[in-house]
Amino acid sequence: MSRQLFVTTALPYANGNFHIGHIMEYIQADIWVRYQKMMGNAVDFVCADDTHGAPIMIAAEKAGITPQQFVANIAAGRKPYLDGFHIGFDNWHSTDAPENHELARQIYRDLRDNKDGSLIETRTIEQFFDPQKNMFLPDRFIKGECPKCHAKDQYGDNCENCGAVYAPTDLINPFSALSGAKPELKSSEHFFFKLSDPRCVAFLEQWTQDGKLQPEVANKIKEWFSVRTNPDGSKSEGLGDWDISRDAPYFGIEIPDAPGKYFYVWLDAPIGYLASLKNLLGKRAALDPQSPDYDTYMVNPELEQYHFIGKDIVTFHTLFWPATLHFSGRKTPNNVFVHGFLTVNNGEKMSKSRGTGLDPLKYLSLGMNPEWLRYYLAAKLSARNEDIDFNADDFMARVNSDLIGKFVNIASRAAGFLTKRFDGKLGDVSEDGAALLHQLRIERTSIELLYESREYAKALRETMLLADRVNAYVDANKPWDLAKKPDQEARLQDVCTVCIKAFRILTCYLKPVLPALAAEVEQFLAIEPLSFTNIADPLQTGHVIGNYQHLMQRVDVKQLDALFEPAAQGEQAQAATESTATTKPGDKKAAKAAAPATPIDPTAPGGEALAPTISIDDFAKIDLRIAKIVQCQAVAGSTKLLQLTLDVGEVDEAGQPKTRNVFSGIASCYQPDDLTGKLTVLVANLAPRKMKFGVSEGMVLAASHADEKAQPGIYVLEPFAGAQPGMRIH
Ligand code: 2FM
Ligand code: ZN
Repeated sequence: MSRQLFVTTALPYANGNFHIGHIMEYIQADIWVRYQKMMGNAVDFVCADDTHGAPIMIAAEKAGITPQQFVANIAAGRKPYLDGFHIGFDNWHSTDAPENHELARQIYRDLRDNKDGSLIETRTIEQFFDPQKNMFLPDRFIKGECPKCHAKDQYGDNCENCGAVYAPTDLINPFSALSGAKPELKSSEHFFFKLSDPRCVAFLEQWTQDGKLQPEVANKIKEWFSVRTNPDGSKSEGLGDWDISRDAPYFGIEIPDAPGKYFYVWLDAPIGYLASLKNLLGKRAALDPQSPDYDTYMVNPELEQYHFIGKDIVTFHTLFWPATLHFSGRKTPNNVFVHGFLTVNNGEKMSKSRGTGLDPLKYLSLGMNPEWLRYYLAAKLSARNEDIDFNADDFMARVNSDLIGKFVNIASRAAGFLTKRFDGKLGDVSEDGAALLHQLRIERTSIELLYESREYAKALRETMLLADRVNAYVDANKPWDLAKKPDQEARLQDVCTVCIKAFRILTCYLKPVLPALAAEVEQFLAIEPLSFTNIADPLQTGHVIGNYQHLMQRVDVKQLDALFEPAAQGEQAQAATESTATTKPGDKKAAKAAAPATPIDPTAPGGEALAPTISIDDFAKIDLRIAKIVQCQAVAGSTKLLQLTLDVGEVDEAGQPKTRNVFSGIASCYQPDDLTGKLTVLVANLAPRKMKFGVSEGMVLAASHADEKAQPGIYVLEPFAGAQPGMRIH
């Protein structure tokens, strides 16, 4: 019997473009959804922008637009990513949409008015207030000295230097990150969800420990329930109540009967799953009156609800969210599927705000096949919430050897003979071929189960083992030799027919991962869409296949070089000319340097988060010198670069003054005459880098905003009067 599934991925914050971590999650969920649809199940796969909260409000204010405009701008940029990687969401919505406002307010009322006793209570708490901005400060907008290790400039919730977790009020010399003002403690009434209520604790202990969650996730959650003394002497209190309100000004949903109080973004964000579904069902009902409305859909006892999320938001999805649903009288999720982080080339975590290393749009713009990435990620994904690594060398090897060498080759080896010699007609299959096809078919159930349990790596490994068997059959039967022997005509048709039939079965097994390629194969074989339910073989004797067109190119190392090329070498007009050494795939340095084209965090200074703290010894490694720009000229063939001749006070072996040649990506903002004769700052000990136009011997410092489109401009640094070429900057 067919199942009814409601599936979501986490809703991305509407404060920046997708990074590769988002794309990985969407691909993981999309494969599962496609598999379910191929099993004949009805699936609604939805997502939305997570729009509310102080950071977005503040970013919008900085950008001089309303939060609504701000999130609309971000939403407008989603499609190229989703279409580009074949992510087939059935709906994309927004947590600021009317459906979400209504649902959030209703769910809150249901919690407040719970017939066995309210789950909401108010308490007066003291919180930091910015007297200049006239607002309460979220933890991330309060900074100060860490009370433990005394590192300066740490956030209000935890120290990035020593990892300590504390309250903003523990910070030494706190200041507002918005205005710099000294925050004042002010009391305010807040609304709490009583998670510590024994009804909640009992429900959540049962819900999280009944075996549905991944074992590693369930074990971690168990710790949160226990009242105990930690090894460092501190006490863990078990489940605490959850503060679900924020004071105006706040971009969010106003709490019923509480003017000036808003739901904390994490209260209404998951409700956005339901809002997006409701929006989808509304659109569907407008086209087809038979289609169920939201209430009818949700009361279906057979409905299954699943959320794909990252391991950093487990608390919200396994405690707050099921409790919110259950105590407001709603259905709870059947499961929450937690994945690890994606790292690129060197194990560096994809940061939420900026991502690192592999820019999805750059990947697409280089003409790289999205299904290479889908296949590669799937070949690494399991049901566990482990981190996985994108390694460029491994990517190329895996795609080229599996997809091209093992899979696509089967069709390319057989199709030509069938078209040229038999007008594309399939023939009869003799016993050995039938036995091979049988081996392929009997694996179907096991591959289905692997997809069902999100063990994609295993599903693909099984499929590739089957492809190996087919290739061994081809090698044993050598159609290219058969083709030379006139008396082997029938055998040639037989062997090639077996290959094409095998190729159809393998394509079916790969279709959840490679939907576009599968569609091409369906066209080439002139068959109906492949599914796991329709198992009858449409390729009967006499069936005519189409002309074979090459189905997939190999990964070219040049594409990977370009993908991981440091930004300054590519299109991104990073102010300074980079001088990182050669960038081959897999190169740690290159991956780090390859920030995505838009690493924008509108809440951070200059649009990007501060780099991790370094020691004075680290800084001392960089030799910054005053340089005089003795000559500056345009570079023929480049619209981005200017060529600078710099005097850094150096002399050659003969004691003659020596200059340096530096290419700098600043031509969009300066004419050569603007710079000639000026002083500036040079990174003087960067390894020289060979560029298309010559060798660059250092890097000139310049400033720019991370969001160069919204805030264009590159500003070369110029020292105060008195500085002389060659002076070191300390
Ligand atoms: O962590 C995040 O990126 C959140 N925007 C996820 C929200 S998921 C759901 F609850 F909306
Ligand atoms: Zn610290």
